[in-house]
Amino acid sequence: MPRQLFVTTALPYANGNFHIGHIMEYIQADIWVRFQRMQDHQVNFVCADDTHGAPIMIAAEKAGKTPQQFVADIAAGRKPYLDGFHISFDNWHSTDAPENHALARQIYCDLRDIPESEGGSLIARKTIAQFFDPAKNMFLPDRFIQGQCPKCHAKNQYGDNCEVCGAVYAPTDLIDPVSVLSGVRPELKSSEHFFFKLSDPRCVEFLQKWTQDGRLQPEVANKVKEWFSVRTNPDGSTSEGLGDWDISRDAPYFGIEIPDAPGKYFYVWLDAPVGYLASLKNLLAKRGQDYTAYMAQPDLEQYHFIGKDIVTFHTLFWPAMLHFSGRKAPDKIFVHGFLTVNNGEKMSKSRGTGLDPLKYLGLGMNPEWLRYYLAAKLSSRNEDIDFNADDFMARVNSDLIGKFVNIASRAAGFLTKRFEGKLTHNFGASGAALLQEVREAEPMLSDLYEHREFAKAMREIMLLADKVNAYVDQNKPWELAKDAANNEALHQVCSTLINCFTVLARYLAPVLPRMAQAVEALTGSKLQNWGQSNIDVAAIQPYTHLMQRVAPEQLDALFEPSEKSGSDPNLTIPGGEDIAPTISIDDFAKIDLRIAKIVQCEAVEGSVKLLRLTLDVGEGRMRNVFSGIASMYKPEDLVGQLTVLVANLAPRKMKFGVSEGMVLAASHADEKAEPGIYILNPWSGAQPGMRIH
Ligand code: 2FM
Ligand code: ZN
Repeated sequence: MPRQLFVTTALPYANGNFHIGHIMEYIQADIWVRFQRMQDHQVNFVCADDTHGAPIMIAAEKAGKTPQQFVADIAAGRKPYLDGFHISFDNWHSTDAPENHALARQIYCDLRDIPESEGGSLIARKTIAQFFDPAKNMFLPDRFIQGQCPKCHAKNQYGDNCEVCGAVYAPTDLIDPVSVLSGVRPELKSSEHFFFKLSDPRCVEFLQKWTQDGRLQPEVANKVKEWFSVRTNPDGSTSEGLGDWDISRDAPYFGIEIPDAPGKYFYVWLDAPVGYLASLKNLLAKRGQDYTAYMAQPDLEQYHFIGKDIVTFHTLFWPAMLHFSGRKAPDKIFVHGFLTVNNGEKMSKSRGTGLDPLKYLGLGMNPEWLRYYLAAKLSSRNEDIDFNADDFMARVNSDLIGKFVNIASRAAGFLTKRFEGKLTHNFGASGAALLQEVREAEPMLSDLYEHREFAKAMREIMLLADKVNAYVDQNKPWELAKDAANNEALHQVCSTLINCFTVLARYLAPVLPRMAQAVEALTGSKLQNWGQSNIDVAAIQPYTHLMQRVAPEQLDALFEPSEKSGSDPNLTIPGGEDIAPTISIDDFAKIDLRIAKIVQCEAVEGSVKLLRLTLDVGEGRMRNVFSGIASMYKPEDLVGQLTVLVANLAPRKMKFGVSEGMVLAASHADEKAEPGIYILNPWSGAQPGMRIH
């Protein structure tokens, strides 16, 4: 009986392009899905953009776009990544789509309207004090408050959870909070919020069972277990077990308005997982299938692949929302760890790493190298894995090329030249035994794929490849080929090799789908189905190269900092711009900076921004310089002050006259979002005309 599988990856925030962490998750899920499809199970594998929330609203505003336009532009950039890495989603949708608005509101109403006879509503209203940015005039989303983690005291942690120790907390628990938007200390302000009553005994009872019945990975279940108990934290504070979940946000907010509550919106994490269902519903509608009937199938299996940072949402809130709204909770949540690159710092959602997936593809690097490399590292456990450039090259070149592809390249030429491409079905005793051994690995590999033990599966497949290569070395086809008397032996050996190779290609097909297609073309065998271990290749087409080796230059180019991504992420200034690429002292020496005395200063008629400065730089003449600092300084306050001038900047003709240099001033990258521009002022003792070194 084919299984009915509904599979998702986490929905990525629509506020940036994919980074390698997304691609890793998609590849992991895609391998599993392809394996299931190869067994003729019916899979719907969907994803969508996670579009709502204040961060996206703020990013859109900064970009001068509506949030809708902003997320549409991000969505438009998804395809090259997904196609490029052979990710076989059946649908890509959006949490801002009508299906999601309707489903989220429906689920909410179902939770709100639970009759008294069944324990009553699971939605509560409470007035709470929340952080409000007085400079920006809005309530601050958790991600826009930073401070010290209340649990482990790590600095610069966001308001919702700690990236260092994994603690989940309220922003008001943060030590020394600041608004990331304005840099000011946020104030507490009251507002009515809607809560999902996770602390209700019904929820607690359900979740205790649901999370501890063996469906979660053991290490995940153990972690989740802690959240139910009253416990003492390392810092001496106590945690109470499950707390109610705040599911509303006040306008301005980009999201789904709460029914019968004008100006109140669902918190993005309420409608984001509903997006799984919305994407599926949209897919089924396109195919003319009925969503309700599909979801009602008793044997439907629902799986979500996610990262370890969003376990709470998927093991507490989401299953409880589904269950108590009368829907089926997920069957399993597959949690993976983070990906580090070259032992670098943890792959961060917002910061990414030096491995740019599109750059990888742009350099002509084979996506299947990456798929294989990740498969060779991934297990069913929630563990971090590292992408290491040297290891990557060694694995791909030694395993995929050296062990696997070489089998075909060593045998195919002889078959084409000596036997018109035809294979014999008589493999000889040792050939038949080898082929049988390779074929018999199928159930074991099936089991490993099913349980997402991809690293073990790759290891077993490469062990088989080692055995095939040992057979090549024992039988030495290149020696046999020297004497026509050995023709039959040569034919047997090469036929054995091509058959073994084809079976291995099928074992690798979930990981290397393009390779599998190429091997289908080479051997005329169908490799889409898992169950056909009795592949018996009759003839091959002339062999063409199946895969190139990884060249060190490609990896050098991949990790070479480019203009834009080149700056060191550690040097990123919060709220500002990244440090520019390194220059030499000679580059710096080209800029002649001088102390200048502001002799005269006046407003510029027709300009709100500019002041006209008359500067003495010790040259025996005055310079005329325009500077965009009128919003910050009154002309009379500047007269007599010293400042710093770029003295050798080419004169620039402006609407109001020629500017002979530029006064140095400090500001944030985006002056509109972060107002303020401050001119430099040297310590006393500096004289007009002095050079700054
Ligand atoms: O953590 C994230 O990137 C979220 N956008 C994941 C959402 S998963 C699901 F719930 F939509
Ligand atoms: Zn912490």
